[in-house]
Amino acid sequence: MTTTPPTPPPAVPTDFVVRLRGSALHFRCAPDTSLLDASAALGALGLRVGCRGGGCGVCRVQIDSGRVRTGRMSRAHVDETGHAAGLVLACRAYPLSDLTLSPAGKTTTQPGACP
Ligand code: FES
Repeated sequence: MTTTPPTPPPAVPTDFVVRLRGSALHFRCAPDTSLLDASAALGALGLRVGCRGGGCGVCRVQIDSGRVRTGRMSRAHVDETGHAAGLVLACRAYPLSDLTLSPAGKTTTQPGACP
């Protein structure tokens, strides 16, 4: 009698690529790391940092493509309509796929080269 080894489960991504629309900038982000924290890899070219708690709106971005999950966010900065349209606070958003995002009034991006 022969046996075959069990098939290993499909690989789960350990992180995703996040691109800043309109530039060559990108960074990698793990599913349990906020977009804001991961953007620190870009240094001064990354997203602007404020309270880190979902309350100031400094880190607001528009998700142009891809999926995120979010924690609590101030409705003063992202109302339900905006959220449904893809607005999120980067300090409260975690990737579920590769993403492209755009500044939404309170973020900074500048053109630069990806490594
Ligand atoms: S840094 Fe203040 S809401 Fe994200």
